[in-house]
Amino acid sequence: PFILSIAGGGSTYTPGIVKSLMVRLQDFPLAEIRLYDIDEARQNTIAPVVEKVIRDHSQSIKFTVTSDPEVAFSGAHFVFAQMRVGQYKMREQDEKIPLRHGVVGQETCGPGGLAYGLRTILPMVELIDLVDRYAHEKAWIVNYSNPAAIVAEGVRRLRPDARVLNICDMPVAAMRNMGAILGVDRRRLEVDYFGLNHFGWFTRVLVDGEDKLPELRKHIATFGLLTEDAAKTDPQHSDPSWVKTWRNIKPIMDHFPEYLPNPYLQYYLMPNQIVEHQNPDYTRANEVMDGREKKLFAAAEEYKRTGILPDAFHVGVHGEFIVDVACSLAFNLHSRHLVMVENRGAITNLPYDAVVEVPAYITSEGPEPIRVGQVPLFHQTLLQQQLASEQLLVEATIEGSYEKALQAFTLNRTVPTMEHAKAILDEMIEANSDYWPAL
Ligand code: G6P
Ligand code: MN
Repeated sequence: PFILSIAGGGSTYTPGIVKSLMVRLQDFPLAEIRLYDIDEARQNTIAPVVEKVIRDHSQSIKFTVTSDPEVAFSGAHFVFAQMRVGQYKMREQDEKIPLRHGVVGQETCGPGGLAYGLRTILPMVELIDLVDRYAHEKAWIVNYSNPAAIVAEGVRRLRPDARVLNICDMPVAAMRNMGAILGVDRRRLEVDYFGLNHFGWFTRVLVDGEDKLPELRKHIATFGLLTEDAAKTDPQHSDPSWVKTWRNIKPIMDHFPEYLPNPYLQYYLMPNQIVEHQNPDYTRANEVMDGREKKLFAAAEEYKRTGILPDAFHVGVHGEFIVDVACSLAFNLHSRHLVMVENRGAITNLPYDAVVEVPAYITSEGPEPIRVGQVPLFHQTLLQQQLASEQLLVEATIEGSYEKALQAFTLNRTVPTMEHAKAILDEMIEANSDYWPAL
């Protein structure tokens, strides 16, 4: 049985992930679960809920809650990382500062994502070093921390040999929706996909060897990538904001019907429409703080008072996916998943050392990407520009370079002019004074 540490134990996602672990104990046996967070108070609020989830399934799994990295990681076989540097308060700034300049306000796309990257790269490297110091020598870090593309590139540059697998649940969430539309379990889909994290395209959706993309295209033309009753089946990805996000695939496919876009492409391809519908005084961070976060804290409070845990957290593909990936790493299953990997020729017309998101077979030594080949000029160009923006941001972080940060902001497709880039960057430098390296 494994020792698993969850870094970012105080996250609202932790109970859902642990629930996913509990229903898969046969496949992924656990001796101990450890929660680790630098925000002790927050973690102590969530921990009783997590403990209850564990005890409903197992009396024998040891449960540890700590803010001491040595306690958290000593001898650990797996670390699930989900840090949010600056928490939702800073997400709010990432979203609101660009919006004040008429630019998309989003936690991973556009200036918000770049700002979040500048906060996260170095703390992520610190975490890797702590795991390296204390954990089992073959330990894997499975990393959900955002902004995933930038974090992955930062890790590749600063700790190239670390056993870190960077993942995102957006492709698998899209596959869940595809499965729901097609009436088949998502695990029966085999997809081809290329791109970067939050910036890519599905090119084939096979069910028993048959490509269902044409059928999906017809559905999307009316409904977007969502069944009519999705709202009933998945609370996380069907709250009103997420419904809008899944529906917005439609205009992209109307114009470019060949492939099926990752929903995040809407921020880059139709930024004006997005900005028009965003409220600069109340963004997604506010929705999450007033919704998911409040609900979980209230449930924790009620549990403390009554001993009864209300059903207040979401279990879905987010938790299922990280457990699937961990199983494949643990037992060398060679399961096929969409993950972030160094390109190394998988996409022949993108740089060899770019971090890309493609299907890969997950072995105990890490992901083995499939060969994608050449991507069309249109997509290659979009990808190359996004990649350059992300790489420059990583270099800005490492070198403390204002100029490179400004280049990263200027190159981002959501940012219309150099003047916008500079105005937003300068405001963000002030807002992030507790977090960013000096530029
Ligand atoms: C998806 C993405 C994550 C992102 C999350 C935001 O799961 O893959 O990268 O953090 O959505 O969701 P939220 O509900 O917090 O806006
Ligand atoms: Mn993601």
